[in-house]
Amino acid sequence: MDASHLGDDLTVVLHTEAELHARLAELAREIEADYRDEPPLLVGVLKGAVMVMADLSRELRFHAEMDWMAVSSYGAGTKSSGVVKIMKDLDADLTGRDVLIVEDIIDSGLTLSWLKENLESRGAKSVRICTMLRKPEAMKVDLEVDYVGYDIPVDFVVGYGLDYAERYRNLRDVAILAPHVYSE
Ligand code: XMP
Ligand code: MG
Repeated sequence: MDASHLGDDLTVVLHTEAELHARLAELAREIEADYRDEPPLLVGVLKGAVMVMADLSRELRFHAEMDWMAVSSYGAGTKSSGVVKIMKDLDADLTGRDVLIVEDIIDSGLTLSWLKENLESRGAKSVRICTMLRKPEAMKVDLEVDYVGYDIPVDFVVGYGLDYAERYRNLRDVAILAPHVYSE
């Protein structure tokens, strides 16, 4: 679905599908160079990271093993609580593995900083983070992010996997959601 199908639900398109793909290709070259000895296990965070995972993994020039986790930190609102619950756990054993977490967006950083520690505690050799989007001005914790697609302002965004109340995930671009949609 394109932004043109959404009437006045969006205020601005921040990054088009083409820009997202081009940036992922650049990140893929960095990731290939950093993991020359052994490809990492890609851990996608459901549901938002589905699109990033699909596009990043196909861009990578190595066998990209994928596993998935679902965590909840939000409830129904638009603010992170910092309380993280595992809704679906990984199938893979992380002992001795290099792990690359693949995320859609880092806002406060609370979810990812919790997740990184959680995966490290399972005996992973290394845990790095790749995120399509980051809101630097919203970060509440000191979190090292190894691969960042784009830094964006502190607005609530949707598309490319990101939802509001499970809608807009299949929008091709990343766009700012018009406030009237969530204040209705
Ligand atoms: P924190 O604050 O813990 O949040 O870094 C990360 C998770 O919050 C969701 N999130 C968003 N989802 N538009 C969305 O659709 C946004 O602008 C947004 N900001 C945060 C998302 O699930 C992410 O994994
Ligand atoms: Mg997410």
